Amino acid sequence: MKHSIVLIGFMGTGKTEVGKVLSKRLKFNFFDIDNLIEEKTGLKINNIFKKFRENYFRQIEAQIVKEISKEDFAVIACGGGTALNRDNIAILRAKSVIINLYACAEVIYERIKKNNDRPILKCQDPLIKIKELLQVRKDVYINCDFSFNTGGLSILEVVEGLINKINWFHFCV
Ligand code: S3P
Repeated sequence: MKHSIVLIGFMGTGKTEVGKVLSKRLKFNFFDIDNLIEEKTGLKINNIFKKFRENYFRQIEAQIVKEISKEDFAVIACGGGTALNRDNIAILRAKSVIINLYACAEVIYERIKKNNDRPILKCQDPLIKIKELLQVRKDVYINCDFSFNTGGLSILEVVEGLINKINWFHFCV
């Protein structure tokens, strides 16, 4: 039996915003792994990458995954790179349905272009970087129970779509 929902997927696919609304709708607790990393370290993600590099960030991320994986009746929004570590997904899978949110590079770019809080996309041409990373990570995000395209949909439409797609038979609510 699964008791929680985990949202994985690339940056800008809606994990955090969808997760918040989905958790309210289901009356589950909401956890955002990036936020928990910032709380634990007392640093913004940009600064963690700047001061301690990505490796350190990934270590803290894996610690948070272990802690959060114990939660029941939770919606957990991962960071875009959480699924790069297959152990993270294996741990979360024990109690959770794993949902991959996705969108095409252009949609992602439109959503993230005004934000400056993603160290991995700080470069001359973020759209090209997004395309490269989507290619590099294409096998990572399919390690899920199902994928859902959030392109062109509002947060509420995505939430409704997910609720319809979750197999409640295997889910204890
Ligand atoms: C990352 C995605 C970010 C954040 C960090 C690294 C990635 O999360 O965890 O900047 O490697 O894709 P969001 O997907 O919430 O932006």
